[in-house]
Amino acid sequence: MKALHQQTEVIFYRYQIITVLGQGGMGTTYAAIDLTNSQLVAIKAVSLRQANEWKILELFEREAKVLANLDHTHIPNYLDYFELDSEDDRRFYLGQELVQGQSLAELVKQGWHVSEAEIK
Ligand SMILES: Nc1ncnc2c1ncn2[C@@H]1O[C@H](COP(=O)(O)OP(=O)(O)OP(=O)(O)O)[C@@H](O)[C@H]1O
Ligand SMILES: [Mg+2]
Repeated sequence: MKALHQQTEVIFYRYQIITVLGQGGMGTTYAAIDLTNSQLVAIKAVSLRQANEWKILELFEREAKVLANLDHTHIPNYLDYFELDSEDDRRFYLGQELVQGQSLAELVKQGWHVSEAEIK
């Protein structure tokens, strides 16, 4: 899938892309910095052009709504939702707090082994 955004690019006049965090079932999530307050954020971007079915947009909107209504210490806070139109595409964005640290996938890639008891 073609990358929607490049490093250092500023979207919505506000969020400067730092790096790609990962690719999910709907689109790409980026780490970015909010230039209005220097806060680090995670921005999930979905392209209407690249979404091959409406279901993806439905899921994305649902994720944004659910997240906006949650308030839990273990769930990143919802920060922003916006849409951007270009000549040939419409893109949907969800901004949330950036969680620092390594993902389980990264740990496993680095050779992390764990016993069943530890996992429990
Ligand atoms: N708030 C966040 N803070 C830090 N990293 C994040 C955050 N949100 C997502 N990520 C990283 O980005 C990756 C991709 O997230 P994304 O939500 O796009 O896909 P997913 O969760 O794997 O699947 P889905 O599309 O079903 O949500 C995650 O695996 C995670 O590593
Ligand atoms: Mg996700």
